[in-house]
Amino acid sequence: MVVYSEKETGVETKHLLMLPAIGLVILALSVIAAYSQGDIPFVKDSAFENPRRPPVAFYHDEHNEKAGLLECNGCHHVYENGKKLESSASVGMECSQCHLASENNSAIDLIRVYHLQCRGCHLKKNAGPILCGQCHQKNDN
Ligand code: HEC
Ligand code: HEC
Ligand code: HEC
Ligand code: HEC
Repeated sequence: MVVYSEKETGVETKHLLMLPAIGLVILALSVIAAYSQGDIPFVKDSAFENPRRPPVAFYHDEHNEKAGLLECNGCHHVYENGKKLESSASVGMECSQCHLASENNSAIDLIRVYHLQCRGCHLKKNAGPILCGQCHQKNDN
């Protein structure tokens, strides 16, 4: 447990107001942690146990900065009754947690949504790779 001094928090330590202040600090720290955890070099969904293709290089933060993607839920979306919720995000969840959640889903569906999201945007923006070997790079390990 980290102890914050009176000077840092502006709240008298023995005062009860300290509790929400600590809550805010913890919230701030977890947001920073989420940002740095997003910095992954590959997309490797754990649902693909025996991948047939080489892993897809995806320098998460660098990619999103270059592509100008500021909204986390542009990819980490949440739907309710078929509608995308503008103010919610599913950061920290693997795509497979939802897209393989129903018994009707198969690995093909999961591959399809990955391709639809990644390749779909590249086609739409006329930027970024669209061929199999450009994403599934053999020697990029
Ligand atoms: C272009 C699409 C895209 C955008 C935009 C995006 N992400 Fe991601 N993110 C992904 C993909 C794909 C994964 C890997 C998911 C998987 O493994 O199923 C991922 C993984 C993550 C992870 C987990 C990393 C790990 O260690 O496994 C975190 C945390 C994360 N993103 C945070 C964020 C945050 C915060 C934002 C907004 C600032 C954001 N992402 C925006 C596509 C995106
Ligand atoms: C919290 C659950 C959840 C997570 C996590 C999630 N999705 Fe979805 N996604 C949905 C739902 C619900 C829909 C609505 C259509 C449907 O029922 O399949 C959808 C729709 C889509 C669509 C079709 C509509 C569109 O936006 O173009 C694509 C593509 C897609 N998801 C890709 C992804 C990818 C890639 C990831 C991981 C980065 C992801 N999803 C994470 C629940 C989720
Ligand atoms: C909403 C749009 C969008 C989505 C979604 C998206 N990309 Fe991109 N991507 C771009 C744009 C735009 C560029 C070109 C950036 C530049 O260099 O100007 C790009 C470039 C790339 C590049 C080239 C190298 C780099 O990092 O710039 C790779 C690799 C890539 N994307 C992989 C992916 C993968 C894998 C996914 C899905 C997990 C994905 N992208 C999802 C828009 C998108
Ligand atoms: C824009 C990038 C992109 C392009 C282009 C692309 N893929 Fe993918 N593909 C992905 C991502 C991201 C995943 C999810 C990878 C993971 O989680 O391991 C994936 C997953 C897969 C999977 C399931 C995992 C595995 O290796 O068994 C297969 C099979 C696959 N892709 C085949 C193809 C084929 C064939 C093509 C060309 C017709 C293609 N992909 C083009 C990004 C791409």
